[in-house]
Amino acid sequence: MRFRATQLVPRRAKERLRGVVRREVALAQPPSETIVEVREVIEQVRALDPDQVLAAPYVAAVTVVPEPEATDQAFPRFAPQLDQATEFPVPPKHLWTVAEQFLESGQRDAERMLDVTRRAGLELDAGTRVLDLGCGPARVLRWLPPSIDGWGVDLNAERIAWCQAFLSPPFRFATCGTYPHLPFGDATFDLVYAGSVFTHIAELADSWLLELLRLTVPGGLLYLTVHDQSSIEFCRSIDPSSHTRALTGFAQPDATEQRFRQWSDRLGTDLDGFTIGRGYYAQVFYDRDSIVRHWARYAEVVDVVPEAFAWHQTAVLLRRRADDADWR
Ligand SMILES: C[S@@+](CC[C@H](N)C(=O)[O-])C[C@H]1O[C@@H](n2cnc3c(N)ncnc32)[C@H](O)[C@@H]1O
Repeated sequence: MRFRATQLVPRRAKERLRGVVRREVALAQPPSETIVEVREVIEQVRALDPDQVLAAPYVAAVTVVPEPEATDQAFPRFAPQLDQATEFPVPPKHLWTVAEQFLESGQRDAERMLDVTRRAGLELDAGTRVLDLGCGPARVLRWLPPSIDGWGVDLNAERIAWCQAFLSPPFRFATCGTYPHLPFGDATFDLVYAGSVFTHIAELADSWLLELLRLTVPGGLLYLTVHDQSSIEFCRSIDPSSHTRALTGFAQPDATEQRFRQWSDRLGTDLDGFTIGRGYYAQVFYDRDSIVRHWARYAEVVDVVPEAFAWHQTAVLLRRRADDADWR
C-alpha cells in the first residue's frame, strides 16, 4: 500500500507563522524575515518524499491515507461482504492484518486477552471503557462484548473508514497519527490494549506507553504485545520463503535475513532490542526480560504471557499504579 504523510508542518511553526502574519497585517508592513524563514521550512517539508518522512525517526505526525496520489480525497463506501457465520461483515482482504483465518485468529486472540485480564480481576461488561490502539480492521475488537464502551484507533485511515462503516455502532473509531497523543481525556479507559502495535513502533515507544498510561484509570489495565525471543524462535524455525514469514516481514531478502540473525543473536546479551526496517513497516523485537524490566519503571507488571497473541507474540499486562494520579 502507498501512503502519504500529512500534517508535516509542526503545529508550533504554523502557529508562529499565523501569529507573525496577523501582526504584519495589523501593522501593514511587508513580510518579515521570520515569515520567509518559516515559509522556507514549510516548502522544504512539502518537498520531502513521504516514504522518507515516514522513515524519519522524529516525524511529528503521520496518517496513512488510502488515495495518496489523488488531488482530492474520497472517502470509500465499502460494499457489504456479509458472512453468515458472524454478526459483523468481514473486511475486504486488502485491509486484513493477518494472511488467513481473519475471524478465527481474532477470536482466539480476544479470548486469550480476556482470560488474562479476567485473572487480573477485570471482567468486561456493560459500560466497561476499552481502547484498542492500532485496532486495524478490528480483528480483535469485534469479538469483545458489544455492550462495552469500546473504541478503536489506528493511523491507517482506510481500515478505520471500514470499521466506522460496519462496526459502529456498537464500537467507535477514530484515526490517529504516529505522534503519541490521542484525543481522549485523562483516565478514560478501564482497559487499554495494543495487539501487535508495539511490534511496529520503532520510535517514541516510551512516549506511547506514557500516553496510554495517561488514558488509563489509576488501577486500570494495559495489555500490550511484543515480539521477543518467542517470535524469533518461530521465525527461525520456518522456511524463509513461507507466506507467514513474508507477511511478518522479518526475513525476506537475504540481506534482511542476515541482519535479522545478527541482531537476534545479540538480543539479551549486549542488546535490549532492535528493529528491522524503520517507519510504518518496522518490525521491533525486544529481549523479554529487558522490556518487562523497562516497563516496570512506569507501571506495575501484573503478568507476562508468552505465545499469547498472533505470530507468537508475548503479552505484557500492566496496571497503572493507583498512586500515580499526580501525573495528570
Ligand atoms: C500488525 S497490525 C495489528 C492490527 C490489530 N491490532 C490486529 O491485531 O489485527 C498493526 C496496526 O497498528 C497500526 N499502527 C502502527 N503504529 C501505530 C501507532 N503509532 N498508532 C496507531 N496505530 C498504529 C497499523 O496501522 C496497523 O493497523
